[in-house]
Amino acid sequence: MNKTENQILVIFGASGDLTARKLVPALYNLYVADQLPDNFVVLGASRSDMTDTQFRNRVVLESSYLKDKIKDQDADYINTFANKFFYEDLGGSYDTDYQRLRTRVEDLKNKYQTSGNIIYYLSTPPTLYETIAQRLADAGMSTQNHGWKRLVVEKPFGYSLETAQQLNKGLQQFFKEHQIYRIDHYLGKETVQNLLVTRFANSIFEPLWNRNYIHHVEITNAEKVGVEKRGGYYDKSGALRDMFQNHLLQIVSLVVMEPPISDAPEDIRDEKVKALKSLRIMNDEQTLFDNTIRAQYTSSVIDGKEVKGYREEEGVDKNSTTETYAAIKFFVDNWRWKDIPFYVRTAKRMPTKVTEVVIHFKTPHHQIFKDSGVHDKDNKLIIRIQPDEGILVKFGVKVPGQGFKVERANLDFYYSSLVETHVMDAYERLLLDAMQGDATLYARADEVEAAWEFVDPILKYWEDGKDVRMYGYASGVWGPENSNDLIEGIGEWRNPGPNLTDDPGFCVIC
Ligand code: BG6
Repeated sequence: MNKTENQILVIFGASGDLTARKLVPALYNLYVADQLPDNFVVLGASRSDMTDTQFRNRVVLESSYLKDKIKDQDADYINTFANKFFYEDLGGSYDTDYQRLRTRVEDLKNKYQTSGNIIYYLSTPPTLYETIAQRLADAGMSTQNHGWKRLVVEKPFGYSLETAQQLNKGLQQFFKEHQIYRIDHYLGKETVQNLLVTRFANSIFEPLWNRNYIHHVEITNAEKVGVEKRGGYYDKSGALRDMFQNHLLQIVSLVVMEPPISDAPEDIRDEKVKALKSLRIMNDEQTLFDNTIRAQYTSSVIDGKEVKGYREEEGVDKNSTTETYAAIKFFVDNWRWKDIPFYVRTAKRMPTKVTEVVIHFKTPHHQIFKDSGVHDKDNKLIIRIQPDEGILVKFGVKVPGQGFKVERANLDFYYSSLVETHVMDAYERLLLDAMQGDATLYARADEVEAAWEFVDPILKYWEDGKDVRMYGYASGVWGPENSNDLIEGIGEWRNPGPNLTDDPGFCVIC
């Protein structure tokens, strides 16, 4: 286990939901696992008027997100954790002189001997990122003379290619690229990281991982929930910006990338950028019309309960044209993937919550079992990102009896079978990595820009292209009726169940 150096974590936007919901529970898990540095404090900073005690109550002692974890623990043990938290009111605005903040950080540093290492975690609206970075630099808080300084930023990272470039430039005026950590919580998921291991630590998959053996790749990200209380944010974002540009293209980059020369952060990130740059950008309207589908959920009754349509959700414009479903077909222009279609979809209000990657292999080029029924049953490798994390291989077996009838059987692995292993939550893993200076699982500036470069023309087309359609789908179904049009000629989307085992494979019960 790497040693984590003493440090201070300064959270901007500390009174917001993310701090209590994700960051503090992740820190608590690290505390329990004895992975916090010996000398470590958290300083929350935001515009709310709060004392240290009030902050501790809010994010630790009375937090509904920690309740279950701490209820049976010894009071001293919990207090020791809570006492690591401090709070500084920035006044009415983040755009202010940070000298007082600096003095507070210095005092904490001296009192708790945390050394000069500091992480600034920006959990504020993205419009404030550059302002905060500038104010930190103005106050001399970004220089690394006495200890390192790191800046962690949450998504969304830009609203378009242009705004992402501006933001990158803006931040890089005050912090060097190696100091900037752009969070994508999907990269913190074990199963997403396992894509690298599946591919590059086994010799059985990689030789097949190319256009000679793979017929097409399908990635599904489905959520059962609607936009919940985030209608205001979501309506300005939509599925493509909210999920596809970041989380799903990160997964795509791990599927597409070439083997890195080592597991060093920059080696992996270099290959991911190359992968994203090789996605074929769709520019003409006909291609965009043929290869993209967007849709919105409409009201429906699920399990006897009425659910609202997207346009009826709080904070959403009654005439909104923001998509809650996005399905994109695209190609990757490089040696490995030439002409192999990728189908990626993401949506809210689907029948279940599931994220998976399905590698569909080609059928054998010479088929000796002619009447076997094998022709429409390709081999599949299904990598289940969540839930019921695991891997499933579908392969052909002979049906007992005369002749050679072939059926598909399942070969599976479940993470849950690794009972001894504590699977880290995404934020826990990412925070620990940032604390240890490992940027492998964080997105680099050029990576983010390459992803926007691919997404931008789709967004522009959806905003003002000719013949653009917005389809509807009843909440609780697998998208609009025409969603299979995209896959025409190949079949249809694989609509998975919540459990990997639900996937039918051939078996003889008696
Ligand atoms: C967030 C999106 O980044 O990811 C949300 O903003 C989405 O809209 C969430 O619900 C999904 O994350 P997960 O880890 O639950 O799949």
